[in-house]
Amino acid sequence: MSFKINDSITWVGKIDWELQTFHGDEYSTHRGTSYNSYLIRGEKNVLIDTIWRPYAGEFVENLKKEIDIKSIDYIIANHAEVDHSGALPELMKEIPDTPIYCTKNGIKSLKGHYHKDWNFKEIKTGDKLNIGSRDLIFIEARMLHWPDSMFCYLTGDNILFSNDAFGQHYASELMYNDLVDQGELYQEAIKYYANILTPFSKLVENKIKEVVSLNVPVSMICTSHGVIWRDNPLQIINKYMEWANNYQENQVTLLYDTMWDATKKMAEAIAEGIKAANPKVNIKLYNTSKSDKNDIITEVFKSKLILVGSSTINKGILHSVAGSLEQIKGLGFKGKKAAAFGSYGWSGESVAIINEELKKAGFEMLDEGLRLEWQPDKEGLERCLELGKRLGANI
Ligand code: FEO
Repeated sequence: MSFKINDSITWVGKIDWELQTFHGDEYSTHRGTSYNSYLIRGEKNVLIDTIWRPYAGEFVENLKKEIDIKSIDYIIANHAEVDHSGALPELMKEIPDTPIYCTKNGIKSLKGHYHKDWNFKEIKTGDKLNIGSRDLIFIEARMLHWPDSMFCYLTGDNILFSNDAFGQHYASELMYNDLVDQGELYQEAIKYYANILTPFSKLVENKIKEVVSLNVPVSMICTSHGVIWRDNPLQIINKYMEWANNYQENQVTLLYDTMWDATKKMAEAIAEGIKAANPKVNIKLYNTSKSDKNDIITEVFKSKLILVGSSTINKGILHSVAGSLEQIKGLGFKGKKAAAFGSYGWSGESVAIINEELKKAGFEMLDEGLRLEWQPDKEGLERCLELGKRLGANI
């Protein structure tokens, strides 16, 4: 499949409807994804990025239907991660001398992945590649989200090729932001930001300011995943500015795992207390062993307060809670509050462990946490309710 964006630019990527997980099993892709590659034709022919390795053969065959690949003058590798560079080895077998433009870290990464000495051309921010009547201007985007990441901007058409930034793991044949379901689109865009870009929020903010200060018109943002932003493309830039600035909604999320429902009953009673004290706050409960881990992270991203609960097992916490805490710690959320809870039978370490992990993750702890022995009785449930009310009044 290919798709004409305008007279000179064609999308030559792959829509992957089947993909269920990305980055190994680290990121769930309920709506599949796409790997977007773009062919610019003109006085010079340019290919921007390729696609993931399993589809390399298909990619090169499709590209041959569009163009004599020997007439591709330049390849731009905005990012070396294998979902965008994976078809390069197959392509370079046929055009081994074609120059590949990328950052210094891009060269390092591509060599690290493929161990090939291709004809690399190192670029820096502000460098221009003339392709006839138009230029490609390069903007390094270090750590958005890898050290090698970069954007490029096509003058004349005024298109920003942003690679992963502003992307979504979202398969759609409709191709453009204005044609798809807006709820689905934004759910995938915020999930992408929350799970991938949160640690780099300061850099996101600075990079957007840098791009905006160039004062160039942007008619479209062509990302490397999901749909192209053509209708009011600045909307996603504005959203990123909001998300990058310690984003939170009026939301509290309780995440827990439970062995015999005692910790679950605690979660529900705490939620009831929060609601009693703060009826307008949006309260959500997730069992970490039953709900999708990346969807939970998206809810944490939207929250001002999280409560984390676990039964104690073998002097530790349940593995699904430990997994979520590890993700939360790695993402480095800022400006959020937290508290812990959990039931135990004899040793009862879970609350102390969760407190410690949440502190390490940078959360402000609003309470020492609540641990209850065995199943909560009437008094125990009352203590949960009271904790909820205290927290609800405090946010
Ligand atoms: Fe879509 Fe960082 O790869």
